[in-house]
Amino acid sequence: MNYNKKTVSDIDVSGKKVLLRCDFNVPQDKETGAITDDKRIRAALPTIRYLLDNGAAVIACSHLGKPKGEWNKKLTLAPVAARLSELLGHEVIFAKDIIGEDAKAKAAALQSGQIMLLENLRFDIGEEKNHADFAKALADMAEIYVSDAFGTVHRAHASTAGVAAYLPAVSGMLIQKELEIMGGALENPKRPFVAILGGAKVSDKINVINNLLEKADTIIIGGGMAYTFAKAQGGSIGTSLLEEDKLDYAREMIAKAESKGVKLLLPVDTLAATEFSKDAEPVCVDTMNIPDNMMGMDIGPKTREAYAAAVAGAGTIVWNGPMGVFEFPAFAEGTKAMAKALAESGAVTIIGGGDSAAAVEQLGFADKITHISTGGGASLEFLEGKELPGVACLLDK
Ligand code: 3PG
Repeated sequence: MNYNKKTVSDIDVSGKKVLLRCDFNVPQDKETGAITDDKRIRAALPTIRYLLDNGAAVIACSHLGKPKGEWNKKLTLAPVAARLSELLGHEVIFAKDIIGEDAKAKAAALQSGQIMLLENLRFDIGEEKNHADFAKALADMAEIYVSDAFGTVHRAHASTAGVAAYLPAVSGMLIQKELEIMGGALENPKRPFVAILGGAKVSDKINVINNLLEKADTIIIGGGMAYTFAKAQGGSIGTSLLEEDKLDYAREMIAKAESKGVKLLLPVDTLAATEFSKDAEPVCVDTMNIPDNMMGMDIGPKTREAYAAAVAGAGTIVWNGPMGVFEFPAFAEGTKAMAKALAESGAVTIIGGGDSAAAVEQLGFADKITHISTGGGASLEFLEGKELPGVACLLDK
């Protein structure tokens, strides 16, 4: 897949109406609706500022949540417009609809240096279905399409891909940065290249493991999926997470790593407990001999040490998925140890969004990491080496 795409600096935006797809899919408090993490709004600011400073009139748009084509008051983008306005120090005009009368009139009247935000794109079923008439109606309000919604580039929706059929399409600075850093790590990593993969399920990471076995020098496995690997090697894993139908795959991966000379590290010890609860008492056991009544919930101290040592000499490290149930403090040590090891490694360090990004932030290591992706599913698909519709649709350089 070609990541070398035209960006906002490759075109003249002055005096132009720009449709800017952002990923403002931010977490909100269930009761009050208050935005609980505005990282994605902040991440869009450089491109928005660039466009406004260079004389564009910006029609920003995003989805929020999964309203499935239904109008849903709880998922209005109005609070995002307010927060964006605060962060920008600039008025953000809010349209009450997406391609309706209000949006069209406000877009038509929008002047250079002004910004408006459309209502939640997913209130219209045409967005997720990538209906051509919905994409065309969005495009008709503008003259240029800029995509900066990295978190959504794995979706072939009207505003992330369809609209590029009607307008010159370029990336914003956030997508450019994500592609440069993550693409650089995959295409031309500083070696040794270490990939750390965690999370609950092997099935979520199959394509990532496959792709990285072609590129990495070392692959470190942690999290719930490690127990399927342990079982595949003849271990007893008690009540730990198991994907029975992925045992053959795990064996294949172990053999493939061996034949390619890739080090595949699996946990030697495990913090296990008799119940999945934050108050559960952690007991350190051999990963291959977890008692029948216990489940693995984190990597153990010997594994923490071995994994930290593997990370210490790395040139590039990519991490996706926590090492254990880090939401429970008694089972956060493995994830914490990896975050600390990355922070101290001196390597180019990349966190592929989602849970691992949350863990690094929650544990206080975010400012020591080279790049924390704003994409969850998107960065996973990027690491899988898949074609991303929201990138493929942009003009090549
Ligand atoms: C995300 O939060 O990963 C993106 O905004 C995409 O959201 P989606 O999974 O609802 O398409």
